[in-house]
Amino acid sequence: MKTIGKSLSIEEVEVAPPKAREVRVKIVATGICGTDDHVLKGSFPNVDFPVIPGHEGAGIVESVGEGVTCVKPGDKVIPLCLPQCGECSFCLNPNTNCCLQTHLYQSQNLMPDKTSRFTCKGKQVYHFLWISTFSEYTVMPDSTVVRIDDAAPLDKVCLFGCGFPTGYGAAVNTAKVAPGSTCAVFGLGGVGLSVIMGCEASGASQIIGIDINKDKFATAKDLGATECINPQDFEKPIQEVLVEMTGHGVDYAFEAIGRVDTLTAALASCHRGSGVCVMVGEPPPGSQLSFDPMMLFTGLTLKGSILGGWKMKDSIPKLVTGYLQKKFKPDVLITHNLPFSEINEGFELLRAGKSIKNIFIDF
Ligand code: APR
Ligand code: ZN
Repeated sequence: MKTIGKSLSIEEVEVAPPKAREVRVKIVATGICGTDDHVLKGSFPNVDFPVIPGHEGAGIVESVGEGVTCVKPGDKVIPLCLPQCGECSFCLNPNTNCCLQTHLYQSQNLMPDKTSRFTCKGKQVYHFLWISTFSEYTVMPDSTVVRIDDAAPLDKVCLFGCGFPTGYGAAVNTAKVAPGSTCAVFGLGGVGLSVIMGCEASGASQIIGIDINKDKFATAKDLGATECINPQDFEKPIQEVLVEMTGHGVDYAFEAIGRVDTLTAALASCHRGSGVCVMVGEPPPGSQLSFDPMMLFTGLTLKGSILGGWKMKDSIPKLVTGYLQKKFKPDVLITHNLPFSEINEGFELLRAGKSIKNIFIDF
């Protein structure tokens, strides 16, 4: 549980049974990702405290409320940090994965009926993105949970709840990386490394990883980066370095850090006639992007990608099945398996750049 200004504390929490169209899930494994750290630092918008964070989990359905037909007790599931209600105009639009129930359009700090299922020492605790996976048991609306293959190892496929599909989909869905193309990936955390996997799978011929932490370079190269560079090793701005390395700039640039300055650099490193810059990281709330609009005039495109463009209910089970068929290797991102009691240490490792993905088990 997280109270504003404090690190996470582990508490006994009462988790109420699911109401109509809700599902109670026993979480078996959960990862942490950059977005959870934004919550802890107070830079994720519209979070109410005290809150149970976490949004990259996998578990087993414990009970379901009235009217739930998509899952039943005993099913292996992944909670979805982007809902797919299947009914709203955004869900019916094939060109967006942002259901109108998504946190960007409505608060998910309480269940849809505006009450919480979490109580600690008699006080209400808030939900996070409706799924709060840093909890042994958690309740979510049925629009935010999907059944996966019974054979899926939950301590691995929890990464399909956020980090892996976010990065991989940014390359294959949002950018639609073409074979033989050049790519630059800013930020080599779990998300950026998943972008590299997507670029590699798409047949890109040059994939340049960019990070200020050179300890990330070996994994990036194992996953398909053809070279890795540290902006601090150059006198000139990194965008100029990238334009020189590629002639006229890269075909695709991905920002997977969540900073405005690196997003500006990613944009400026693209080919002016046909480059595509994809914003994958989430910049701090209230940030403004400033650039010369003439950059876009000749054909450069700037796009955003949330959760890799996947409509989550439709896609996550298929991705998990693809994983079981060995089509993807997100396991290489898992650097640490820790007991849940060490969750604060997990955040320290992430901040110190010593881990890529920490997976927590043993609640
Ligand atoms: N220039 C280059 N690399 C940087 C810079 C910078 N100025 N600042 C940080 N980095 C690198 C870090 O060294 C780290 O390797 O960016 C990487 C970020 O990785 P993580 O912190 O592991 O974050 P991740 O989980 O990959 O998420 C990245 O995507 O989901 C979004 O908004 C979320 O901001 C998050 C982003
Ligand atoms: Zn919807």
